[in-house]
Amino acid sequence: MNQDKLKKAAAFAALAELEALAPDSLIGVGTGSTVNHFIDALASSGARIRGAVSSSEASSRRLAAHGIPLISLDEIDALPFYIDGADEIDYGFNMIKGGGGALTREKIVAAAASRFICICDASKRVATLGRFPLPVEVIPMARVQAAREIARLTGGEPRWREGFVTDNGHHILDIHGLAIDNPRALETELNQIAGTVTNGLFARRGADLLLLATAEGVQRHDRQSSATSSR
Ligand code: A5P
Repeated sequence: MNQDKLKKAAAFAALAELEALAPDSLIGVGTGSTVNHFIDALASSGARIRGAVSSSEASSRRLAAHGIPLISLDEIDALPFYIDGADEIDYGFNMIKGGGGALTREKIVAAAASRFICICDASKRVATLGRFPLPVEVIPMARVQAAREIARLTGGEPRWREGFVTDNGHHILDIHGLAIDNPRALETELNQIAGTVTNGLFARRGADLLLLATAEGVQRHDRQSSATSSR
């Protein structure tokens, strides 16, 4: 099965998780090609939701094109689920995200949600995070200085994602060459660098449930119960 088919399988599996949701609930929606499949599946499922809190302009456009109402975080008290992909996820449910550059809004919406459902194809699961370059969103005037500090702190090689501007008007530095032993500590330390908006480590708020699409079916890994099942 090719990677896109696996992404689609993970996205469809997420729909089943939403069955627990009361009609007229809200969901948080991430960004990326796997989430695009989820948005399309959600629209065609006829699931009754009040609306979606979006993590990017790209996802907002796709949701709106399907007629799914967009709700801002300011308007809500609770968000039962956040559905998003990842660039890497380890066995402790820590992730690297932000390959699409939407990391900051993704982190904001994920922080508001009770349950983070990560939808991925099997290639995203790793023993140690860091082969995928770790994105850091920085305020443009701090880019060069922040890059120097990041290099000193991590020993990795920060590279400017040239020509890319985030939805928030900022720049991205992608840190290459990392093997991240302690994702929680690195997430916190990177946030202390002046001019850093956020970084793509999702360890302090990791995933609660991983729907991992493999050639043999979609595996369901639940963080709380440490249970794994397949469909
Ligand atoms: C977007 O900024 C990212 O965090 C995505 O969630 C991540 O890059 C996964 O994307 P794909 O679903 O396209 O692999």
